[in-house]
Amino acid sequence: MPEPVKIIIEGKTYELPVIVGSEDEKAIDISNLRKKTGYITLDPGFNNTGSCISSITFLDGENGILRYRGVPIEELAENSTFVETAYLLINGELPTKKQLNRFSVLLNDNSLVHEDMQIFYQNFPRASHPMGILSSMVNALKSFYPELQENEEEINITVTRLLSKVRTMAALSYKISRGHKVVYPRPDLSYAANFLNMMFDTPVRPYMIDEDIVKALNVFWILHADHEQNCSTSAVRLVGSARVNLYAAISSGICALWGPLHGGANQAVIEMLSEIKADGKDLARVIEKAKDRKNPFRLMGFGHSVYKTYDPRAKILKKECDKILSKSYIDDPLLDLAKQLEVFALKDDYFIEHNLYPNIDFYSGILLRAIGIPTNMFSVMFAIGRMPGWIAQWRESIHDPRWKLNRPRQIYMGLPKRKYIPIDERQEGSSEASETESV
Ligand code: SDX
Repeated sequence: MPEPVKIIIEGKTYELPVIVGSEDEKAIDISNLRKKTGYITLDPGFNNTGSCISSITFLDGENGILRYRGVPIEELAENSTFVETAYLLINGELPTKKQLNRFSVLLNDNSLVHEDMQIFYQNFPRASHPMGILSSMVNALKSFYPELQENEEEINITVTRLLSKVRTMAALSYKISRGHKVVYPRPDLSYAANFLNMMFDTPVRPYMIDEDIVKALNVFWILHADHEQNCSTSAVRLVGSARVNLYAAISSGICALWGPLHGGANQAVIEMLSEIKADGKDLARVIEKAKDRKNPFRLMGFGHSVYKTYDPRAKILKKECDKILSKSYIDDPLLDLAKQLEVFALKDDYFIEHNLYPNIDFYSGILLRAIGIPTNMFSVMFAIGRMPGWIAQWRESIHDPRWKLNRPRQIYMGLPKRKYIPIDERQEGSSEASETESV
């Protein structure tokens, strides 16, 4: 048992237990701090605060290590498929042939979307962002599939349903937004090939499945499948802690992922590269703008809350981009621009001092463009990839013996107690609140 830490508060010494993880990460357990001392801790953004103990994903930001259930991301990207990796994350072990076959059959059996859902899709304004549609329609799944989730069997069905339908729902919103005929999932196609076919098959030009593209999409989704307690996963756990159904918890994760600082960064990277290209590719000016603290511009796809070295996923995606873009019929000038920008940024002292390296989003947009995915669907592609991670984390939380309603505290810095003033006695511009020092 590790030695407790001691803290001295107002002359009194308190001991707090220490928890050591299986990869030797250390934490001070403050779950009884307020009861013992009357003090809380303050950590805006929670960058120094662990919300849970988890066995799903190990991430070492200093050394660029990422493992799902102990398996290095590099080996999964090389040898696995997205469905097999999803099984590993959700069930904790790589499936046997029989288990994988059964899982694939279940995914196929649950790939259709209730026909009545199409009415909702038809009535979203055509310019609606696909992430807004996806979060609404995932939440709506509860209305169409109201079975409770009281036992493991029902949870298993709900999990497989969600994993399978999210792919169909994404393709459906794309087809309907284009006014194209909806394409249904086919039982003879793999998870990724089915998605591509539902997206791009048309009555006038059947979609030709390219195994290299299918492999690239599997790698893309494997790399996005989980990332410990990131913003959207924390949203799923926090909303899930109120004991809402899985669809509602996942819908909150989709909303969090939509943000340009999180899963929306892949779309923002392409928009940024396109702008740089249109402005004459003055990379020095771009880097100066990104370093200017008075300027809200950030170099999208660079920097990370946890990785302080090259995001291992970005390395793999960059290789995948080279592979796919080397195909004769695909060319994207933004890839060369991205590589030039990376070289430029990695030589800059500010970026070196602040440990700003490319993250997963820097190359993911280039790969998605090469596959033919429209830019406004990039974060939807991230959401499909992250689905098994959200599910695995939600499932781990509901079985956690310390699972409780999440309710952070705060430090109040507002006005002291004061009387209610009737409206006729209030003077214009006399509000005390405006005199409060801002923190
Ligand atoms: C994802 O958490 C996860 O795991 C997320 C994710 C996942 O798989 O779930 O990995 C997916 O969200 C990847 C990140 C995608 N976002 C972007 O690419 C947006 C651009 N990146 C930045 O907005 C930023 O790097 C964040 C938000 C990702 C992290 O910001 P932090 O936590 O503020 O980073 P930091 O504290 O390490 O920053 C240190 C300094 C700060 O400057 P100072 O105030 O100290 O002078 O570096 C600056 C930051 O302002 N900085 C940047 C920068 N990122 C950080 N300056 C210019 N360009 C950037 N991209």
